[in-house]
Amino acid sequence: MATISATCYLFIILSWLCPTTLCGTVLEDLKNLHPPPEFNSTIMTNCLNNPSHRYCNSSPMNFDEIFKYTIVASHLCNESKNPNCIESFHKVDLRNRPNIASLYLSFEFFWRFCPLTILSIDVSNNSLKGNFPIDVLHCTQIHDLDLSINEFSGDIPIQSFSPLTNLTFLNLSYNCFSESEELSDSQFFKRFNSSSFLHSGALLDHRRFFTLKVVILLVGFPILVILMVIFLAWLCFQRPDFLPRKLQRRRTFTPAILSAATSGFSSRNLVGKSNVVHIYKGVLRDGTQVKIEMYWDEISRESYLNFVEECKVLSELDHKNLVRVLGWCKSRKFRAVITEWTREENVEMWLLSESSAPPPWSHRVKVLMGVVECMRYLQKEWPQVDYDLNTNSVLLTQDLEPLISRFKVLDHSTSTTRNICKFGVFMLGVILSRKGQEKFEGDADGFIKNMRRVDLDPEELQEMIDERMELSETSLHQAKQALSLGLMCIDQSGSEQPSLAFISNSIARAYKATLVLPSANHTRSHADNRFRGHKT
Ligand SMILES: *[C@@H]1O[C@H](CO)[C@@H](O)[C@H](O)[C@H]1NC(C)=O
Ligand SMILES: *[C@@H]1O[C@H](CO)[C@@H](O)[C@H](O)[C@H]1NC(C)=O
Ligand SMILES: *[C@@H]1O[C@H](CO)[C@@H](O)[C@H](O)[C@H]1NC(C)=O
Ligand SMILES: *[C@@H]1O[C@H](CO)[C@@H](O)[C@H](O)[C@H]1NC(C)=O
Ligand SMILES: *[C@@H]1O[C@H](CO)[C@@H](O)[C@H](O)[C@H]1NC(C)=O
Ligand SMILES: *[C@@H]1O[C@H](CO)[C@@H](O)[C@H](O)[C@H]1NC(C)=O
Repeated sequence: MATISATCYLFIILSWLCPTTLCGTVLEDLKNLHPPPEFNSTIMTNCLNNPSHRYCNSSPMNFDEIFKYTIVASHLCNESKNPNCIESFHKVDLRNRPNIASLYLSFEFFWRFCPLTILSIDVSNNSLKGNFPIDVLHCTQIHDLDLSINEFSGDIPIQSFSPLTNLTFLNLSYNCFSESEELSDSQFFKRFNSSSFLHSGALLDHRRFFTLKVVILLVGFPILVILMVIFLAWLCFQRPDFLPRKLQRRRTFTPAILSAATSGFSSRNLVGKSNVVHIYKGVLRDGTQVKIEMYWDEISRESYLNFVEECKVLSELDHKNLVRVLGWCKSRKFRAVITEWTREENVEMWLLSESSAPPPWSHRVKVLMGVVECMRYLQKEWPQVDYDLNTNSVLLTQDLEPLISRFKVLDHSTSTTRNICKFGVFMLGVILSRKGQEKFEGDADGFIKNMRRVDLDPEELQEMIDERMELSETSLHQAKQALSLGLMCIDQSGSEQPSLAFISNSIARAYKATLVLPSANHTRSHADNRFRGHKT
């Protein structure tokens, strides 16, 4: 074969150049080496006989390079210590030869014209550095490729492997390739398996993964737990309003919640202020509008506990005619009571309002009714809660529901007699005209004294009824009855004072009557003596 004759001939030259192995100077020598004159024709003949030689397909043919290739090829062939080397040059075996392997890898021309007989390339265990030796992949016919135990780095050129359809064994283990997610997903990786990539760097290293997991577990997890504890503690102690409703300790507010509700106690939210108390309007996280009374005075520990106890009781109160106490807040600097936000209008303002029509009888009865209901509730459930029934402290909702807004907890039950008396004063305040009340100018006690002293002349009393109500005959009758009831209430001597149940029934009756009777008849009637008869 012409190939054989050519390469045999080249052997001789090469042996002369470099007797035993391809030594360091070969590179230099190869540079200066030129093909003999008949080389062109030998190659051309080769190609005619066997066109599958890779060099036959190169154009233009670089005979210098082909010449160098044949030298390297024959040398490698001889290296394989195979007596029939040329016919069966199957393997490029450069295993465990660090000095020479890198040299061969640098012969780009050799790989470009890679002999088709080579089926296996092994350059393992050579501490080779640099990028993946991509030139090697010119030998597309190979079955085995072993680059293991080297220090190759960078990416594995996955795409460049696709022409190597007969490659069945690949070993890239023990290298320093870059980690590649693409590799783990690729078809290429499925063709081989992880044993081809042991410690190659290219796979997401499981040991490192494991260490990472351990580190996360040992360091990250405790940190996470600590952070969560801190977060939960913050939630519980600072912003419990962010907790699920079920976990919230209702009624205890933290300074942080109040601060958030009032935009950091901004002056815009400050609605009232004195030396010891600041009153803020605020909005809770759930949208509830609240009034926050903050007390800045210093109090003893005992008073402090009393404050909490009192707040606990007050926040238990639940009646539509009581301003709802939502909770309290205690901090080192202040204590606060949080109540629902109410309109500013109180009964007194309502009665005396000049801008709107004077409240009619039916509305007044409704207010009295609400107050009595609330009193009954308190008497029954919370006898220790004392409350204030001045017309200026009882607030009014939009729906004309009275709201008792001032109350406190005593360490004993309140006196029913006194409560009924307070109600009597309130009732008279609602029924009587301004002029009528002025007769009894002064404090409540004075009012009561005067009221008791008054000679209950029906004419005179009727004149005291707020004439702006423009009462019908029936309503006037009811008003008189109510007036006499009010007078009975302020009789603290006890003999004539009606019970709360009696008052409640009477007012309920009057209330029902106003519901039945629209105040159609506005004619005022005069001198009706019957109400006195009712009283006795
Ligand atoms: C043979 O190679 C030499 C130098 O490489 C070149 O000058 C010459 O033209 C070539 N002959 C043929 C037939 O290609
Ligand atoms: C080629 O190998 C033979 C033995 O197989 C040896 O005698 C000869 O010196 C080798 N030639 C080269 C160039 O290495
Ligand atoms: C790699 O080569 C070294 C010497 O360079 C040798 O000691 C070692 O056994 C070789 N390892 C393998 C797996 O062949
Ligand atoms: C793979 O082997 C087959 C059969 O030996 C051959 O026909 C084919 O050309 C080979 N593929 C490559 C890329 O060399
Ligand atoms: C990898 O594939 C080879 C055959 O190609 C098989 O013998 C070996 O068990 C496989 N290893 C793993 C870890 O799957
Ligand atoms: C690749 O080489 C390494 C080191 O010699 C070896 O442990 C591994 O089993 C080899 N992988 C395959 C697929 O032969």
